Amino acid sequence: MTEPKAWFHDAVFFELNIRAYRDSDGDGNGDFRGAITKLDHIKSLGVDCIWVQPMYPSPLRDDGYDIADYTGIHPDFGTLDDFKAFLDAAHARGLRVVIDVVMNHCSIDHPWFQAARADRNSPYRDYFVWSDTPDKYSESRIIFLDVEPSNWTYDEVAGQYFWHRFYSSQPDLNYDCPAVHDEMLRVLRFWLDLGIDGFRADAVPYLYEREGTNCENLPETHVFLKKVRRLLDEEYPGRVLIAEANQWPEDLLPYFGDGDEFHVCFHFPIMPRLYMALKRGDKMPIIDILSRTPPIPPGTQWMTFLRNHDELTLEMVTPEERQWMWEQYAPEPRMRLNLGIRRRLMPLLDNDRRRWLALNALFLSLPGTPILYYGDEIGMGDDIWLPDRHGCRTPMQWSADKNAGFSAAERTYLPVIDEPPYDYRTLNVAVQENDPDSILALTRFLLATRQAQPALRSGALEWVETDDAAVLAFQRTTEDGPPVLCLFNLSDSPRPGITPLTDVRDLLAREGRVYPAGQPIPLASFSAHWLVA
Ligand code: GLC
Repeated sequence: MTEPKAWFHDAVFFELNIRAYRDSDGDGNGDFRGAITKLDHIKSLGVDCIWVQPMYPSPLRDDGYDIADYTGIHPDFGTLDDFKAFLDAAHARGLRVVIDVVMNHCSIDHPWFQAARADRNSPYRDYFVWSDTPDKYSESRIIFLDVEPSNWTYDEVAGQYFWHRFYSSQPDLNYDCPAVHDEMLRVLRFWLDLGIDGFRADAVPYLYEREGTNCENLPETHVFLKKVRRLLDEEYPGRVLIAEANQWPEDLLPYFGDGDEFHVCFHFPIMPRLYMALKRGDKMPIIDILSRTPPIPPGTQWMTFLRNHDELTLEMVTPEERQWMWEQYAPEPRMRLNLGIRRRLMPLLDNDRRRWLALNALFLSLPGTPILYYGDEIGMGDDIWLPDRHGCRTPMQWSADKNAGFSAAERTYLPVIDEPPYDYRTLNVAVQENDPDSILALTRFLLATRQAQPALRSGALEWVETDDAAVLAFQRTTEDGPPVLCLFNLSDSPRPGITPLTDVRDLLAREGRVYPAGQPIPLASFSAHWLVA
């Protein structure tokens, strides 16, 4: 069972794409040796834990979520020793490290699949899900519907169809096969023995298939996931297990079990509603989704984010809301991808610093453990013309030097952003280090201010009534520190805010502003306030 309060409750996470951060050997790909030289930068943001995206050997057809060897390091990113050096260097700075683990599927290049397809009698045949026809499990939705016509693909060599929930280069593993359980537990132990602090478990709802169901969230899946949790509890206490399950809050509840499954689940549905509220100037989407979020077992936690390496997913909204979000945030067809939007945070906000600050402060005021996505700490842009989700995965912009100071190579794994206003020559860490008003400085300020307030880190949330749809107010309270009143103007026009009963100080006003008791707080357009008595 989970401790009442463990380290991840109060932490801020940072999502790191090793390939994108810093190339130490000039091959055009970021690597662990390069990332080690940037750990001081990551630490300086005020984050506590790094989530390392897949770093395994892989043909990279799904950017590493297609694993060809579960216990190795992709040669472009370094060696296992480099990984260990990274882990040690992070730990030496007080940064924890969790890694992605993809249990649902591997790559067609994985030796298991190669052996399985070549020989029906191979012991590996049963590691995958086969059928003579593409008809089974027809109630299962297709996730990558832009490119995959079916969850079944015929394999000439195997002479049968194999099952895959994602790309056809990612065959699903068969969890009805006990050997797959053993393999996966062995993989988890391998990394835990190296000293990692936990896993972000990718795509966990889809482990089992059963006829007559949508093949998501099945009871058998939870039985296996509880087994994973037992392994952590019994052999590696203190490590964290995080679920990536893009589901409604009530469907996520079983992933916490009775506090005996995941410690943490991503809260997907809240994310699009933050953008929705900001665009509509209406707080209701936020209030609605938090009201729809059930209480979770003691010791467990939600995880929140504004952006990540994927498209901004619109799976957890109604079709009408999705259409509206596309019209508002993805006016050009190319900006749309699957059921989402392939844009980074700053371009989504039209490069408007007021919106950036309001949205980030709101996000950092909500219950849950926040995650920042690399590059968003300086407000990086995107390239919607790159394939798939790659437009949000371009090289980190360190300086105005060649390749943004990311790499000495002639060609980098993806081009750096070189068009205004997100051009690396003007938008980079070096420039922002010298500017007290930069996005980088504001990111540090917001995180430091949040982390200094126990109420914001882990307090209870109580709504505060306002009679203005655009003015969102709630209080976070805890026994460990003063209550913090969080107040936002989600609209593009100034509004009178609520009237405090005592003088209140605004933690977000860097000049240290105090609002007197008895007078309505004047709210500038798109503004955020963290008020303490
Ligand atoms: C998760 C990852 C995504 C990947 C998919 C399939 O949703 O976030 O990037 O494509 O799983 O592995």
